[in-house]
Parts: sequence; C-alpha cells; structure tokens
Amino acid sequence: MKVFVTGGAGYIGSVCTELLCDAGHEVTVYDNLSQGHRAAVDLRARFILGRPEQPGDIAAAMAAARPEAVLHFAGDILVGESMREPGKYFRNNVGCGLEFLDAAWRCGVRKFVFSSTAATYGLPEQTPIPEDAPQRPVNPYGEAKLMFERMLQWYHRLHGLEFVAFRYFNAAGATDRFGEAHRTETHLIPNVLKVPLGQRPHVEVFGTDYPTPDGTCVRDYIHVVDLARAHILALQPGCCGFYNLGNGNGYSVREVIRACERVTGRAIPAVEKPRRPGDPPRLVASADKARRELGWQPRFPGLEAIVASAWAWHQKHPQGYGD
Ligand code: UFG
Repeated sequence: MKVFVTGGAGYIGSVCTELLCDAGHEVTVYDNLSQGHRAAVDLRARFILGRPEQPGDIAAAMAAARPEAVLHFAGDILVGESMREPGKYFRNNVGCGLEFLDAAWRCGVRKFVFSSTAATYGLPEQTPIPEDAPQRPVNPYGEAKLMFERMLQWYHRLHGLEFVAFRYFNAAGATDRFGEAHRTETHLIPNVLKVPLGQRPHVEVFGTDYPTPDGTCVRDYIHVVDLARAHILALQPGCCGFYNLGNGNGYSVREVIRACERVTGRAIPAVEKPRRPGDPPRLVASADKARRELGWQPRFPGLEAIVASAWAWHQKHPQGYGD
C-alpha cells in the first residue's frame, strides 16, 4: 500500500515507518523537522522536508505521493506548553491538521489514521477508561486533539472518508534502530534513564500526595512497537472509529523508577517535587475494543520489557540523534 506518514521523523512516526517498510508498504514521510530528526527516517522511505506554513505545500506533497492511506502523527505534544501557548496548539494541531485531512480527502485517500490521546478524557471518572467515557479535556493539547477527532467524524459522515483515531496512553520503549529523543524531554522514562546514563544526578518526582497507593501518578505505559503494530492493523479495509491503545496496567512514578533500577542495575536517586499542573492522578486504558475489532494483541505488555528496550536504545544513542 502507498502510505503517507506525517511526522514520520518523530518518535512514534519513525517506529511506525520502520514497521510499515518491513511489511512491504511504500512509504512517503512528510516532516518539517521542527521536532523530528532526519536520521530517524528509515532510508527505505521517501522523505519530503515539509513547509506546512507555505500555502499549498501539504496539498502538493500529498497529490504527488498519491497515497491510499495517511498516518497523521505530526503535531505538538507538550501539555505544559499548551497551557502557556494555546494558540500554537490550535494552529498546528487543528489548523495544520485540517490541511492534511482536506488534502487526503481531495486526493481520494481511503483511510486516515490519526494520533489522538488519553488527554482528551481529562480527569476520568473511572478506570480503566473505555472509549465512550466523557471527553472533557483539561488543557489545550487535549482540546485540540478532540477538535480534530470531531473533524474526522464530519469528513467521514459527509465525504465517506474512513478513519481510525487511536487514543494513545503513555508511549515508551524503542526498536533497535529508533527511539525517543525529544529536544525538550518531559517524559518520565527517558528522564529517569538520564540518571544511569550519567546525564543527571537524580530524577524529579512531580507530586507525592496523589490519591494513589504510593502517592505518585499512575500511567498505562505501552511499547511503541505495539502502538505501531496497531496502526498497521488499522489499514485493513472496513475498520473505522476510535480506539484506546494501552495495556490496561497502571504503574506509578515510583514503580517506573524501580523498574529502571532493576533493568539498568544502578541506583536512581529521586527528589520529591510539587505536582506538575494538569496531571491527572490515574490514566489506565481499556483497550478491549482494539483487541476485539482490530485483532490487536500487545507483544510487550510488561513494564520491564518496555524499559529494557528504551535502555538499550539510549545506551547506543546517549545524545539521541545528535541534532
Ligand atoms: N513525571 C515525573 N518526573 C519527570 C517526568 C514525568 O514525575 O521527570 C511524572 C509526571 O508528572 C506524570 C508521569 O510522570 O505523573 C508521566 O509523565 P509523562 O510526561 O511521561 O506522561 P504524561 O502522562 O504526562 O503524558 C503523556 C503524553 C501526552 C499524552 C498523555 C496521555 O506525553 O502527550 O501521556 O496520557 F497526552
């Protein structure tokens, strides 16, 4: 299949591109490298250095590639930043996203797969969270992703464009080749691993007074390879709708730090800090729908396997992609 991957130089996009190429798909990556890395793009994929701010750039790139499917990973991802610069999130994640969606429909694309997020649920009333739980985002990042979900539904209803929107929980881990390297790193596992890498003296724990068993936030960590595999399953004709992607297991910040200590064999000092604004205490997915309807089955559901793959990658790439 001819697949157009936006944000294919980013963390999840790069892993998905690798798996698509492995599966024999013909991949075009469109990325402006504002957050992605050229070295993270599989050499088997065609690369387009996008200029999404230039009128017509997205439509022209898509028309030239003539894809059957679009996987839309591009977007800004920092919850905290979205609270300071909401306009950036609405401009890039909604405005620019609409350019991709509209271009896809106009080019006759059959399937549009979108990276949505657990952040669309806001502060959930129950866990595990099913797809039909109320969506009340508590930050512009989640709000922008929810707005895009709604646009997808209208394009489906009015233009017949088939879509799958995956609500990711906490992506982590790496393949042998591609891993997590953000220029501004806010995510827990890469930050914890900076300690055994000798790049930080300790990890900061944001909040120890949450209503959780050990007082720290609980998250559902999912291996990036399992996320990517779900995207490939989403290309099957007929499947359409919203799917959570998580393992259904919650781990606290302290449990993640202990798993990193076991995997790396090093002590990882932790310093307690105040809560990070906007962090829900507990986010755990019910991914039964993806299992049932897409036939998705996570291969790496355990936290240690996820951390071990991340540790292997960071040891080989202590400076990330070096750019
Ligand atoms: N944390 C720390 N110290 C750190 C980094 C994080 O204690 O150095 C804590 C956070 O406060 C949070 C937990 O670790 O309680 C997980 O934080 P992450 O930043 O790794 O992940 P989030 O759960 O905040 O966010 C991630 C994605 C979002 C997505 C969200 C949905 O980054 O894009 O999952 O669950 F919206």
